[in-house]
Amino acid sequence: MEQINFVDLKKQFSSIEREITDSVLEVLRSGQYILGPIVEKIEKKLSLYSNVNNVITVSSGTDALFVSLHALGIGPGSKVFIPSFTYTATAEVIALVGAEPVFVDVNSKSFNISCKDLEKKIKNHKLKKDIPSAIIAVDLFGLPAKYDQLNIIANDYNIHLISDAAQSFGGAIGNKRVGNLAPITTTSFYPTKPLSCYGDGGAIFTDDDSMAQILRSIRAHGVSDDPYENIRIGTNARFDAIQAAVLLKKLTIFDKELEERKKIARIYNEELYKAVETPIILEGVDSAWAHYTIKTTDRNELKKYLSDCNIPSMIYYPKPMHEQIAYKKYSNDDNLEISKNLCNEVLSLPMHPYMSEEQVLYIAKKIIKFLG
Ligand SMILES: Cc1ncc(COP(=O)(O)O)c(C=O)c1O
Repeated sequence: MEQINFVDLKKQFSSIEREITDSVLEVLRSGQYILGPIVEKIEKKLSLYSNVNNVITVSSGTDALFVSLHALGIGPGSKVFIPSFTYTATAEVIALVGAEPVFVDVNSKSFNISCKDLEKKIKNHKLKKDIPSAIIAVDLFGLPAKYDQLNIIANDYNIHLISDAAQSFGGAIGNKRVGNLAPITTTSFYPTKPLSCYGDGGAIFTDDDSMAQILRSIRAHGVSDDPYENIRIGTNARFDAIQAAVLLKKLTIFDKELEERKKIARIYNEELYKAVETPIILEGVDSAWAHYTIKTTDRNELKKYLSDCNIPSMIYYPKPMHEQIAYKKYSNDDNLEISKNLCNEVLSLPMHPYMSEEQVLYIAKKIIKFLG
């Protein structure tokens, strides 16, 4: 059996090497390396894919969040409600715009923000009417959060809702794809994400045309139609044309890759559900399966055993955000027990579209053998 990799970008590249190199060469010969026609082309394709009016590509998933918060006027005095069980990027952008992150607990099965705890925390944090606040829901490991409820909560409390879909682009709820589930959605094209570049990249999705104009302006130093007329404070978050060329080709195999991820998750679930807590599969909800994450109280021992068997695994995440040194000053430590416990129990197994069924069955067999 071939060596098992946690993700296998080399294999993906070899399957579309010709298409990618031709596409990149075209950009190299064009003389236009930042924004430009190829970036507009991928924005159009992504907008058709997700059925959203506007896609604004940016330089990373972190910048997608930063630019969105800035565009919504989130700053000093604003509170931004986020799950404590997430990647640091979701939290750091809030602090960077001068707002306060408020940590919310998650659901123990979906790993996504708990709507119950969210409402409780919104009520506890008396929000000022004239200062905007926001919720950033994270679709952890690829599973879309509960946007039907989240949109209602955001409307009821007059708070902005951003979907951090860095891990879930390609997922869907019913016939609505990720990108179209919240007023603003951000994603990442970091190389290990389901849809990825060969470098950094990200995008923002919105149906709101005037918001899209603001986002485009902030992405490029706050310019107006006149590039030397700066009408707001912006930044450099522009997307690179070479990465757009990569993305255009990867998009052509994306649906096939998503199917493969789904197939692998199904096999893992069938093999493992008696031995460990396997990820939930919700009726009508499609995960992008960025990661396949199990729960077990023997997590550390299992990780070591798998490593001895040459099976890589990762802990996403070993520490909740509210316990990280950088966020201690914001930490309101109450009712974050699930986030805390998950950090001791979760283990992500190899997951990528180029795994063989034999490899998945082998990993499952080793896990069952170890856990009895
Ligand atoms: C949930 C989440 N949000 C945001 C990001 C940031 O994306 P990027 O690495 O492209 O800046 C990531 C990346 O891992 C992520 O997992």
